[in-house]
Amino acid sequence: MKTILITGGAGFIGSHVVRLFVNKYPDYHIVNLDVLTYAGNLENLKDIDTLPNYEFVKGDINDGPFILELFEKYQFDGVLHLAAESHVDRSIADPMAFIMTNIVGTVNLLNGARKIWKSSEGHRFYHISTDEVYGSLGETGLFLETTSYDPHSPYSASKASSDHLVRAYHDTYKLPIVITNCSNNYGPNQFPEKLIPLSIHNISQNKPIPIYGKGENIRDWLYVEDHAAAIDLVFHEGKDGQTYNIGGHNEWTNIALILQLCKTMDKKLGRAEGTSEKLITYVKDRAGHDLRYAIDSTKIQKELGWAPSLQFEEGIEKTVDWYLANPDWLENVSSGAYEKYYEKQYVNR
Ligand code: NAD
Ligand code: DAU
Repeated sequence: MKTILITGGAGFIGSHVVRLFVNKYPDYHIVNLDVLTYAGNLENLKDIDTLPNYEFVKGDINDGPFILELFEKYQFDGVLHLAAESHVDRSIADPMAFIMTNIVGTVNLLNGARKIWKSSEGHRFYHISTDEVYGSLGETGLFLETTSYDPHSPYSASKASSDHLVRAYHDTYKLPIVITNCSNNYGPNQFPEKLIPLSIHNISQNKPIPIYGKGENIRDWLYVEDHAAAIDLVFHEGKDGQTYNIGGHNEWTNIALILQLCKTMDKKLGRAEGTSEKLITYVKDRAGHDLRYAIDSTKIQKELGWAPSLQFEEGIEKTVDWYLANPDWLENVSSGAYEKYYEKQYVNR
């Protein structure tokens, strides 16, 4: 029996990773540590929350003494660290929560692992990170694992800082670590502040779809379950101390993506083609808006045999179907209703 800590398991990507691990590894004891911010929601896990190998702990990674106690109590064999403040626009409005959770919180977890792991044998601290640490590409080129860090937003600077700290614990204290830097995820359970779920929500409510600037910025989109599969592979087969880039080979300008989404939504909602795109509204650009992200994932493909399984058209259709089938989820996360409900269920630390 292995005891594995997954942080941020009530969030978007974390919930898919928790579900995969709980179902695929019945002999692991999966502990999901999450403080349940606005972005974390136990509804995302209600299909697995009574399984015997799953346990939820409500707690804050910013609370150093609590994290040390938690590591002492559970003697985790491995850690998958996903808890973070994850939204770039929020980091521009108020950076401090990003500094605390993404940097200080990560160091608290590293200290917990360092305290209980007397050797690297059988242990792994896996930091789930982002391609935004590499900065912005021009019209050509791809991010490699060797690309220099050049973060621009408070969010990406905080993730870059935590990546460096994870590597520093490897080099200084021989902590067994691995890091992945992934491109933009999409799929079920993503909080409707991010481009795709926000647009699905607004289209279904006939509200404007805000496009920053000219809509020419490019992102490389990956279906969230493909990311979860890559995380599983890297956790079990990645090499100690290594970084792997994960991406979808799936670049879209924001405007092309939204036009494709509008087409899908028209079809699903039984609207005449061209109806939803009338909602597109160009708004003030994001400050310091990175032009283009695109990942070269040759290393993980060649060394570990990972590749994305879903074409974008199929992934976006699955995503739209999920949001349309779960209007209560969308309504409750947007209004904060789940947040209030779960606040009453668990005592905050
Ligand atoms: P999310 O915002 O949906 O979820 C984050 C989760 O962390 C939430 O459940 C939240 O309650 C929890 N959390 C936040 N602060 C915490 C704290 N102080 N203590 C304990 N729990 C806390 O984020 P996401 O999109 O699922 O991203 C997960 C991870 O993957 C992040 O580290 C992010 O940087 C990284 N990532 C995200 C993407 C993407 O496209 N979403 C791409 C690459 C990497
Ligand atoms: O690249 C990985 C990153 O992808 C993750 O590390 C982040 O956690 C995740 O939030 C995401 O960051 P982005 O800033 O790329 O995602 P977002 O959905 O916020 O925006 C995608 C693009 O769409 C970006 O160019 C900004 C633009 N945008 C976004 C919103 C919310 C709009 O044009 N309008 C909007 O309303």
